[in-house]
Amino acid sequence: MLAIRTNKLIKKFKDKTAVNGIDLSIEKGELFALLGVNGAGKTTTIKMLSGLIMPTSGEIVINGMDMKKDVFKIKEIINVSPQETAIAPNLTVKENLEFMAGVYQIKDKEKKINELVSQFKLDEVLKKRAKTLSGGWQRKVSIAIGLINDPEILFLDEPTLGLDVIARKELWKVITELKGKKTVILTTHYMEEAESLSDRIGIMANGDLVDVGTAAELIEKTGAKTFEDAFVTIATGGEL
Ligand SMILES: Nc1ncnc2c1ncn2[C@@H]1O[C@H](COP(=O)(O)OP(=O)(O)O)[C@@H](O)[C@H]1O
Ligand SMILES: [Mg+2]
Repeated sequence: MLAIRTNKLIKKFKDKTAVNGIDLSIEKGELFALLGVNGAGKTTTIKMLSGLIMPTSGEIVINGMDMKKDVFKIKEIINVSPQETAIAPNLTVKENLEFMAGVYQIKDKEKKINELVSQFKLDEVLKKRAKTLSGGWQRKVSIAIGLINDPEILFLDEPTLGLDVIARKELWKVITELKGKKTVILTTHYMEEAESLSDRIGIMANGDLVDVGTAAELIEKTGAKTFEDAFVTIATGGEL
């Protein structure tokens, strides 16, 4: 069954076309990476798929529900960890978790929070104010918060942007543990990230979804030696 399907999805900002008619199909339980350079249209796509902004035109179907008709029902089964982390800087990690558990009206708040604390090993930072944490920790907390409503679909927009290699590898572990349990849509412009984490990769360039496949398929298709070379060939239309 498909978790996400789009049909000719378009988003224009005045005269700028950020997303140019993309058709996506993502299976339930899949870890799908949207890869592309800055400005390719990844964040705009994620914002539309998660109901944060409305498309200019086109169709979005999430778990069989139409975004235009069922945006509130859809929001119950998804969550987003946005590109600019959405944690409250002056609250502690515990307070952030409690706050969002309140927003989502989680029934057994303490139980859910304890679950996330042990899943993400948050004990040591629980009483710290979010703004005092390293970028890696902040992102980890942001992903934990994204799971507070036990979403079926989780969107992670550039989860490892600007992190050092160790923090990044640690987040990869966290994301890998979600594999198969959740449908995860991740955006990145790091090749190795898309290659090592995802089941399939969609490559965006200038608002278009130029190709979709497993890393191995994209390598084979382009005749490239590495996935990075395959990406460059696909994203530039073979001009580089
Ligand atoms: N709110 C906006 N108003 C005008 N242009 C925007 C807006 N949001 C994004 N864009 C433009 O749309 C294009 C795609 O942006 P974005 O989706 O953020 O790309 P990515 O996440 O891949 O870096 C860029 O050219 C960006 O400048
Ligand atoms: Mg972005």
